[in-house]
Formats: sequence, C-alpha cells, structure tokens
Amino acid sequence: MIEQQIKSAIRDIPDFPKEGIIFKDITPILKNHALCLAIVDEFTHRLKGEQIDAVAGIESRGFLLGVALANKLGVPFVPIRKAGKLPHTVKQKMYDLEYGTATIEMHTDAFESGARVLVHDDLLATGGTVSAASELIQEMGGVVAGYAFIVDLTFLNGREKISAMSDNVIVLAEY
Ligand code: PRP
Ligand code: MG
Repeated sequence: MIEQQIKSAIRDIPDFPKEGIIFKDITPILKNHALCLAIVDEFTHRLKGEQIDAVAGIESRGFLLGVALANKLGVPFVPIRKAGKLPHTVKQKMYDLEYGTATIEMHTDAFESGARVLVHDDLLATGGTVSAASELIQEMGGVVAGYAFIVDLTFLNGREKISAMSDNVIVLAEY
C-alpha cells in the first residue's frame, strides 16, 4: 500500500530546523524512482474524472513531484514561488508564519481566468502556505479544483483551514 511505502521512506529528523520539531524528511522518496512514479500515479488515479486545467506547485518541495504530476495529467505546471524569484509580472500574497510573515508570488499570466487549478505540495502542516496559495489563485480568477499532498500532519489541523476553498483534498500518508 502506498501509504506504508511512503511512511517507510520518510525519515524523522529530531530537532530540525529547531529544537522540539521532528522534521519529516522526504528526500529518501526522491531516491526511489519507482515510489515517485507510484505517488504520481496514485494522485492521477484519485483525480480521475476531475477537470484539472493546471497544477500549481509551491516552492520548493511542491516543485519536486508537481511537474511530474502536471506532465502526467497533461496540463501546465504553475510555479508558486517565494518573493523575488519570478521574473515576469507577479501577484503576491503575504501570510503569517509561527514567527513573522512570508510572501509568495505567481506570474499573472500563469493561467486563464476560470481555470481549475490543482494545488500540490509535499506536506500539509498548519495549512498557512497552501491557504495563501489558494487565495492567490482565486484572486487571479482561478478556481481551486483540489489539493494533492503526499503527507498531512493531521494534528496541526491544516485541513480545517483549506476546506472552505475545496473539499477535494487528496492525502497519501497521514501522521
Ligand atoms: C514546508 C512544506 C510546506 C509547508 C507546510 O515548506 O514543504 O510547503 O512547509 O507548512 P504549513 O502548512 O504550516 O504552511 P517550507 O516553508 O519549509 O519550505 P520548502 O518547501 O522550501 O522546504
Ligand atoms: Mg514547502
């Protein structure tokens, strides 16, 4: 089962990036090409019948399999980047972190108005990042068609934050 394969691959790193945090390291997944393909296949399978016009991936870990997923679905990939990285005209969104704020950006010509955009990231924690990404997509005239995460840290209740935007939430491994 894919959940077990993912959990076996993910490594817990205690006290990273700071004391008290147990970091879920997904890099061993990337060493396993068969597992990467299986993850993309599983997302695609669970999206069967859905109209998806683009996949938006969030820098940086949302890029890793986001492009592969978009390629598999046969739709454009939209990079959502941290501020100051995208070269063309951008729209940006600031959001709160545990301490301070962060800003993400997207190109204003990333998709057509009315496009149904699937949001992909490696991991759902508090939901702050993906909520900001969703607002950005909506403010640019897109529709959030759903979410595809490899991991959900359910104890942080990120799902509650995003459920208003789409109840189509795909998660392959829960902790
Ligand atoms: C991590 C993870 C998600 C986000 C989840 O990214 O890849 O994007 O945090 O957290 P949230 O649900 O509480 O917003 P991070 O900001 O560490 O950057 P990275 O992807 O560049 O490693
Ligand atoms: Mg990230």
